[in-house]
Amino acid sequence: MYLTKEEQRMLNGEEGYTAKKSMEILAALGNIYGAEKLIKVGSVQVAGVSYHNLGDAGLEFLNNLAKDGKVKVLTTLNPAGMDLEDWRKLGISEEFAKKQNLVIDAFRKMGIIISCTCTPYLIGNLPRYGEHIAWSESSAVTFANSVIGAKTNREGGPSALAAAFVGKTPYYGLHLEENRGPDTHVDVKAKLKKFSDWGALGYSIGKKAQNKIPYITGIEAADLDELKSFCASVVTYGSKPIFYMKGITPGSEKHQPPKEKVTVEDRDIKEAYESINDDVEVIDFVCIGCPHSSIKEIAKIAKLLKDKRISPNTEFWVATSRPMKQLADKRSYTATIEKAGGKFACDTCMAVAPLKGRFRSVATTSAKGCYYSRHNDMKTKLASLEECIEAAVKGKWS
Ligand code: F3S
Repeated sequence: MYLTKEEQRMLNGEEGYTAKKSMEILAALGNIYGAEKLIKVGSVQVAGVSYHNLGDAGLEFLNNLAKDGKVKVLTTLNPAGMDLEDWRKLGISEEFAKKQNLVIDAFRKMGIIISCTCTPYLIGNLPRYGEHIAWSESSAVTFANSVIGAKTNREGGPSALAAAFVGKTPYYGLHLEENRGPDTHVDVKAKLKKFSDWGALGYSIGKKAQNKIPYITGIEAADLDELKSFCASVVTYGSKPIFYMKGITPGSEKHQPPKEKVTVEDRDIKEAYESINDDVEVIDFVCIGCPHSSIKEIAKIAKLLKDKRISPNTEFWVATSRPMKQLADKRSYTATIEKAGGKFACDTCMAVAPLKGRFRSVATTSAKGCYYSRHNDMKTKLASLEECIEAAVKGKWS
């Protein structure tokens, strides 16, 4: 891969330890994938923030980078393992909080915005159409490529960090127009009736597309929250982190549906629920906000919870970014949700908080949330917001 004089100096260690390490990562990736050069990126989203996933080895890696590393572009963070302000309320131990705070200190020292959300595009890290970025976090990567039309590969935590320190990323994969075209046509004949159907649709298309780029037809309308949920699901269950939805996402007008075609029927949506859902009676955890809740979703939750009471046997979380919670405070949504017994889980989420062994079963609107909850040994129910709230109030599935 061609390197400029400045990049070569960094690789030689003339600009310090972190610049050298970062260039080593970028050069190795560039060489593996045949990139001709590095290109500038407009922003970076860094995943791998929870101490639960990083452990002491990850913390040490970050502390070493933080010694002389400063990011060169707008850089935001994925969710951490706890609410950074109100972690006790979520049942997080002192010991975990101490370690998580050390991780956050390291990121802060690097000049990264401590945003701790997987929806950076809702809180100020919003790339423009066609802009090159280096994001990790699969749902955000899929949203950026497909709904916004920005260009990013699915970075890992270290490669995203390296891009942040250099301000550049190797020019390969989804940065190149020739790799962004659709290669399978998915015609959706199924009728989507409720919000969680978007997660089920993501499951079905992910399985059918299997590492291909789908060109989706048959969808008449989709709002931001539906697309956000679909993005999280379709990439979790199989497809590449980019899709086209005819008449809805940018770039869909530039492409024709590929010849290879599959359909999604009502029975596929039904099968998705059957595969994601377990037989459960007791619901001791309900989590809304995977990806992190928008203010519109929080408003809906508050409306549905008004004058209701969550079962004392059920923990109810609204996972969101802190700026979104601050908006919710101003409209009294927070007061309504907390009065009903719900909790805000800012800065964190159901997948990266240390939840293993705490709950038996979860109800959620998110197909991706179900996937990760099974890794946390929970039984899962993918359901509409109304059904999730009913389960939270009754403490059981009915
Ligand atoms: Fe976001 Fe966590 Fe879901 S990072 S997409 S809320 S698993």
